[in-house]
Amino acid sequence: MPEKYAFIDVLESIKTPKNLKGKESHYISHGSINEIEKVCAGIKQKVLFSEKECREIERKIDEVGDNARRGKYKSHTWDTAPLRNKYFFGEGYTYGSQMARKGPGQEKLYEKGAIDPIPEWINRIVVKRLEDEKLLPKNWITSAVINDYLPGGCIVSHVDPIHIFDRPIVSVSFFSKCALSFGCRFSFKPIRVTDPVVCLPMDRGCATSISGFAADDITHCIRPQDVKSRRAVIILRRTLDTAPRIGDPVSSRVSPRRERRSVDPMYLRNKDDRKRHSREDSEINNKRRRSDTDYIRGGKRHKEQAKDVKIENNKSEKDTSPTHSDDPVVKRSFTRRPKPFFM
Ligand code: OGA
Ligand code: MN
Repeated sequence: MPEKYAFIDVLESIKTPKNLKGKESHYISHGSINEIEKVCAGIKQKVLFSEKECREIERKIDEVGDNARRGKYKSHTWDTAPLRNKYFFGEGYTYGSQMARKGPGQEKLYEKGAIDPIPEWINRIVVKRLEDEKLLPKNWITSAVINDYLPGGCIVSHVDPIHIFDRPIVSVSFFSKCALSFGCRFSFKPIRVTDPVVCLPMDRGCATSISGFAADDITHCIRPQDVKSRRAVIILRRTLDTAPRIGDPVSSRVSPRRERRSVDPMYLRNKDDRKRHSREDSEINNKRRRSDTDYIRGGKRHKEQAKDVKIENNKSEKDTSPTHSDDPVVKRSFTRRPKPFFM
């Protein structure tokens, strides 16, 4: 099957404070040219779905939501929080507070069969197109995740667990335009997000593939201000044969291909993290790779990766400032964390 859709020139599409030339854009990359080039080298994008096809897929995503609410899925298939629903198909994994041992690198796949299989329509409509367009190898993915965000929903900076998922990581966006931001640091109460190194626009119907530096050496996130109306994504990934699974005999083995990698401290999300990382770098390299750097140290907040930050959609379209500190919903998120909202 010949490739029918053109690759987007990602580097060309990136807006920086310099090349904006007075034009307005919500999606501005603040990294140096060198950083932007490094990140963009690992990104591929193609608009793969027409308006009509998007509508068909969006109807299917609605059906998934209906099925979940009607109790048609296994318990670990659906994970809900106020501003986002997450549906795992094929494979699912423990994350955040679901983990017996917490922290990046501790994620584990659920037992085989604990998650519903990948719906037929995802393979037929979405995966097939990605395979035909050389964005995915044939018969390769084992996991499909749908994230369905309401306005103001977000996903904090993270690296998709490197011991769980192979690369590339391919996603397709629906319902509305959004942006994937790289190299942001989050702080909370009130929620704040630092300027991204790269802010990558993702149109409705657009497929995005990340690998290399973009997937492994810098965190990515969805900023709350970039989810202006409902937005969903289908993320297609392959789980590694070496990925630990609940119920496996206890083992501290780390995938040899990946154990020596670590996130560049430059791209860790806050200063304390960067300091700590430089101290622990050799130790981390020997033990495991930091797959998620999104936690805050100091004060009462301690190792809070996988935050279930519930951001109320109390902002106007234009207001992209962080949520106010008196937002009770955000406040509550620091007292109890029944569920992480990211990943
Ligand atoms: C994820 C993720 C980004 C998106 O779920 O791991 O990075 O586009 N999602 O929603
Ligand atoms: Mn991710």
